[in-house]
Amino acid sequence: MSKITAAITGVAGYVPDYVLTNKELETMVETNDEWITSRTGIKERRILKGEGKGTSHIAVPAVLDLLKKTNTKAEEVDLLICATTTPDMVFPATANLITAEVGAVNAFGYDLQAACSGFLFALATGSKFIESGQYKKVIVVGADKMSAIVDYTDRATCIIFGDGGGAVMLEPNTEGYGIQDSILKSDGTGAQYLHMKAGGSRKPATIETVQAREHFAYQEGQQVFKFAVKGMADVSAEVMERNNLTAEDVAWLVPHQANKRIIDATANRMGVGSEKVMLNIERYGNTTSGTIPLCLWEYEKQLKKGDNLILAAFGGGFTWGAIYLKWAYDPK
Ligand SMILES: CC(C)(COP(=O)(O)OP(=O)(O)OC[C@H]1O[C@@H](n2cnc3c(N)ncnc32)[C@H](O)[C@@H]1OP(=O)(O)O)[C@@H](O)C(=O)NCCC(=O)NCCS
Repeated sequence: MSKITAAITGVAGYVPDYVLTNKELETMVETNDEWITSRTGIKERRILKGEGKGTSHIAVPAVLDLLKKTNTKAEEVDLLICATTTPDMVFPATANLITAEVGAVNAFGYDLQAACSGFLFALATGSKFIESGQYKKVIVVGADKMSAIVDYTDRATCIIFGDGGGAVMLEPNTEGYGIQDSILKSDGTGAQYLHMKAGGSRKPATIETVQAREHFAYQEGQQVFKFAVKGMADVSAEVMERNNLTAEDVAWLVPHQANKRIIDATANRMGVGSEKVMLNIERYGNTTSGTIPLCLWEYEKQLKKGDNLILAAFGGGFTWGAIYLKWAYDPK
């Protein structure tokens, strides 16, 4: 019997309509378009507006579109994993809210939290359920409403993040397409540089934590930058080496979109030219778990069956990793 691999058989994405430009940020904090563009590569990002709207409201339209594109009935879905750092609620899992909303009544679901590496970790995890032969249709979602935890008085942090997300369908493949290899890493000593101080069990919400603005993402940008450049470049090079891939063999680098300079450093280390690097940071900023599926969604029409893709991410925790996969279908 031929080996089962987990192949992506469809991708969909969703970004909210509201566009927060660098110009508008100039009216909120002391910054300017030139500084943001040259330091990060970001021009604008999307914001989910509206009372009572959370990450599931980004994920649901993406999943509904994915079901349509892959001709899948919601009842056929076995499992939905939602990678997010901004769940609708602490519990239940956002994955459950999504499965209920889309009618995936036979699926079980859970959330996976690995900050900006969330989608990568969830994709690796979801693929194991397919490779084992246990399940046939696994949806992996990466979505975040970062505007819910961004302090719009902190100019070094608020310029980076935006809201958005995407989803992929994983199905068994016996022709060798799909996920080939993954390298996933964590280092909890990095938690001090990027975290949220309050709202967890260690420091539940009080009037004081709210007044001290401790329910927002706290980031020491320079420290994160240093680790991110090294971490993402190292694992991307490592996954190429151990699969005997040269830069010519790689059709696309799909990097987490946190800072254009981190992406450039990763591509340089891999020896991959900028024409092979998926980019949407200019329009969406860092959507945390959303960046990689949003890239795949936007570049889907340029992907060909057999293309070698390297997905790479870095995030709070610290967490980082790379996945090597063979794209499984031609543009539809
Ligand atoms: C956040 C980040 C863009 C800041 O860029 P940086 O070049 O490291 O900037 P620094 O924090 O060293 O600040 C340099 C100066 O710019 C200022 N500055 C910070 N944000 C600014 C802004 N939005 N506009 C203008 N000036 C700003 C700082 O106050 C500092 O001024 P000083 O020298 O007078 O003290 C960058 O560190 C980064 O991208 N880090 C990684 C973040 C990341 O990837 N996070 C997600 C993890 S997945």
